Amino acid sequence: MSVQKLDRNFFQRLFGICVTRKPSHQDAWKIAEGKVAVDLNSMPELKDKGSAVRIESKNLEEPVLLVHGDDGAYHAFKNRCTHGKRALDPVPGTSTIQCCSVGTSTFNYDGSLIEGPAKGPLTVYRVDHADENLTITL
Ligand code: FES
Repeated sequence: MSVQKLDRNFFQRLFGICVTRKPSHQDAWKIAEGKVAVDLNSMPELKDKGSAVRIESKNLEEPVLLVHGDDGAYHAFKNRCTHGKRALDPVPGTSTIQCCSVGTSTFNYDGSLIEGPAKGPLTVYRVDHADENLTITL
C-alpha cells in the first residue's frame, strides 16, 4: 500500500522540522495527576479536521501530538516516531500520522505502522471529550 506524503523539502526532512506547531495560547492546556486537560475554546489551531498541535513542557515526560482527526474525533500520541524518535504530523485527508524525517514512517490513528522503517506502533493515549474539553490520559 502506498501512502500520501506531506509536502516537505529534503532539508526539512533531514533536520526533522515538523509542520505542527505548539498552541498559541499558553493557558489552553494544563497537566494534573497524569492527565492533560485541554480547553478547545482556547485552542483555535484544532478547529479543522486534519489539524494538530504539539503539547510540550518540561513538566511532561514525553511530548504529545494532539490531532483533530479526519474522522472528527481527537487522537493523542507520544510525539516520537518509533524509528529515530522524530516528531510526527497528521496528513490531512488520509487519517494518518507521519514522521517528519526522511524515513516518513506512516501510522494509522490506532498507532499501527502502515509503511516506513519504524520499529513498531506509536504510543496512543486515551482522549475523553466532553463539551469543549478534552482529557488526555498519559
Ligand atoms: S525517525 Fe521516523 S522514520 Fe526515521
